Amino acid sequence: MALTIKPLQPLQASFAAEASGVDLKQPLDAATIAAIDAAMDQYAVLVFRGQPLDQGEQIACSRQFGPLDAGLRKATGAATRFQHEELIDIGNVALDGSVAPPDNKKLIGVLANQLWHSDSTFQAIPVKYSMLSAVVVTETGGETQWADLRAAWDALPEKTRRHVEGLSAWHSAFHSRMWLGDDTYTEAQLARFPPVERPLVHVHPGSGRKVLFPSVHCTHVSGMTVPEGRLLVAELIEHATQPEFLYTHSWRAGDYVMWDNRATLHRGRRYDLSARRDLRRTTTLERSAAPAVAA
Ligand SMILES: [Fe+2]
Repeated sequence: MALTIKPLQPLQASFAAEASGVDLKQPLDAATIAAIDAAMDQYAVLVFRGQPLDQGEQIACSRQFGPLDAGLRKATGAATRFQHEELIDIGNVALDGSVAPPDNKKLIGVLANQLWHSDSTFQAIPVKYSMLSAVVVTETGGETQWADLRAAWDALPEKTRRHVEGLSAWHSAFHSRMWLGDDTYTEAQLARFPPVERPLVHVHPGSGRKVLFPSVHCTHVSGMTVPEGRLLVAELIEHATQPEFLYTHSWRAGDYVMWDNRATLHRGRRYDLSARRDLRRTTTLERSAAPAVAA
């Protein structure tokens, strides 16, 4: 059976689609990889159901789409319960396999993920796709929402477009965590991820469409006072995350969802932190020109 792509939303507005007809445990041929890349360029979120990958299979599958990144652990050096450095722990399972208690440091990451962001925009080498594999999901809550930032740009009033095009914002790995009250990072950790300047509007390489690109990782906007810039970013996030720009995914164990960080924002939704939730993320690095502001 060949790869089949079916939009998950009304056709004109759909930026999420369900992909079927492939077994992600097996190596994909070049034509299938190209078809998935093309679907990612057209949509931005692809949902594969019934693909329960083990850790090694997830690494092998993800690597077919680019070199893998290790995420914030590069700065924090936090221990991992996984067999591979490139598997990023999304969930509330502690190192010993139990559900993490409320005072466990990893829960700050769980909560920061509930704020609107694109993955790893705070690092100099930008990322492309993220892929999330669901191992254990909660009965209620814990959905992931994505916002279509190309549609958000298209719908922006002309006056606001003129205001934001050409502006750039600074992204910091620790901003969302500090906003949540976690200011326990050492100078050495902070120095490993110095803030990065990115345009508030960029062109998506795969589709040629413009993207409105605010994030909770933004600390300030160049050429504006800190409060002015933060209010502008908050206003843009509010615009981009209106219901008509959203896809909400209710997780089942075995789901594998890919998304393009250059064209979307996402956030996790609240869930009962005493209920076990175990998902693994892999993220590919951007191979072509970076949307970061040139030096
Ligand atoms: Fe994320």
